[in-house]
Amino acid sequence: MEKIIIFDTTLRDGEQAPGASLNPQQKLEIAFQLEKLGVDVIEAGFPIASSGDFQAVSEISRKIKKSAICGLARCLKPDITAAHKALKGGRHPRIHLFLATSKIHLKYKFKKAEDEILDLARGAIKSARKLCADIEFSPEDATRSEREFIYRVIEMAIDEGASTINIPDTVGYSYPQEIYSLITDIRNNVPNIDKAVIAIHCHDDLGLSTANSLSAILAGARQVHCTVNGIGERAGNASLEEIVMALKTRQDVFGDFFTQINTKEILRTSRLVSNLTDFLVPPNKAIVGRNAFRHESGIHQDAVLKKRSTYEIMDPHDVGISSSQLVLGKHSGRHAFSDRLKNMGFKLNEKQLNQAFMRFKDVADKKKDIYNDDLRIIVEDEIRLIRPVWKLISFEVSSGTKIKPHAQVVMDKKGKVLTGQSSGDGPVDACFKALDKITNFKARLEDFRLEAVTSGKDALGQVSLKLNTRGSTVSGRGSSSDIVEAAVKAYIDAVNKLETK
Ligand code: KIV
Ligand code: ZN
Repeated sequence: MEKIIIFDTTLRDGEQAPGASLNPQQKLEIAFQLEKLGVDVIEAGFPIASSGDFQAVSEISRKIKKSAICGLARCLKPDITAAHKALKGGRHPRIHLFLATSKIHLKYKFKKAEDEILDLARGAIKSARKLCADIEFSPEDATRSEREFIYRVIEMAIDEGASTINIPDTVGYSYPQEIYSLITDIRNNVPNIDKAVIAIHCHDDLGLSTANSLSAILAGARQVHCTVNGIGERAGNASLEEIVMALKTRQDVFGDFFTQINTKEILRTSRLVSNLTDFLVPPNKAIVGRNAFRHESGIHQDAVLKKRSTYEIMDPHDVGISSSQLVLGKHSGRHAFSDRLKNMGFKLNEKQLNQAFMRFKDVADKKKDIYNDDLRIIVEDEIRLIRPVWKLISFEVSSGTKIKPHAQVVMDKKGKVLTGQSSGDGPVDACFKALDKITNFKARLEDFRLEAVTSGKDALGQVSLKLNTRGSTVSGRGSSSDIVEAAVKAYIDAVNKLETK
């Protein structure tokens, strides 16, 4: 099997993402994690760009022992000197030189002819090679460059001592077949290409960076540039986790290749980079998004419970996630619901389960996230309310700063529908008075407590109260995302207990 070298540029191209800047201490923390992840080369920064970057590259060089450390440089003397100085304390330094080769860059950015560019690159590679044994060269904007010109530039770079030739799709313009042809053509037309490793560097402007990188591997690239969470200039770079997991998962296609990445560290690395850059990972991001191993639809949940691989192509443990998750929401089915309740220790009979499931669906229609605490309350409510004498059919309240609160409550007592109306000091008081009119219990409210069961504006509220009548006290509990409804349910729960006393 052939090894694919993972060149991580989170700390260089990734950090170039607008708003993602990191201080040297944060960069060092990420570098330690990248080493643990098993990255072969860490591009730690662009030493000439700022004193912070210089310091970061030099500290990372001194402290990281396993991965090679790379510093970026333009084909200019001061850049090469700065990169060399920053990298010199390290075990395995690499200087990464780049120079644009496309017509558009030559004409507008440099106002130079092809031969001048070739000479500039030659001089830079020669002098960098005197300072550092490991040189990588990138003809920037390679995918928009004239074929014949990049062949010449690459041949020259290898002759001058570059041991890695990186092919950047700088503006994320290319597509998989085109990348495949480009790498194939380079292999067929650059006479000394066998003396260098071919690398690929893809940006994601058209959302094709991972596909393009994989295509390059199939065509002969043996190093991939990538970043954690795919962060980078504009739409970002090819994402490390996507490339690594694609190679691992699609062994039918990529069976000849392996990486040295410890995939179980992927999630931890993703979280660290997200926290330190303040770049949130979108929930649907492949591999590391919060939803990447979650299922909400009833059909999917049912199948995953029967056989995980029906809807999961990767094992979540492989990327450092403890398990796939069945998210309970309005699309969930009974199978996942009852499975979760079993795991929480509830033993419900068929009838209780049906009742609890109906109530759950009702809550899920109003509330986006259903937590275990919500479920516990739902189930406890439903178990207690089986065969109550009094059942709530509906209620309506009007309340506000300029009107006296008024409530109408409709109840069922053993098939008979009864309606009560009342005003009160507040909406809850009005409801309780209306309930009293229907039930005829002249109970005194001794205690009333309202708690949010979970967090968020749509949290379930739980009301616990005590009613006293003729010297005996009963308690009642009720929950709902509407706190007046929770209070009404708690009152009815207590009234049902009074009824059976
Ligand atoms: O996108 C690009 O071309 C680069 C080079 C510096 C390799 O980041
Ligand atoms: Zn780039």
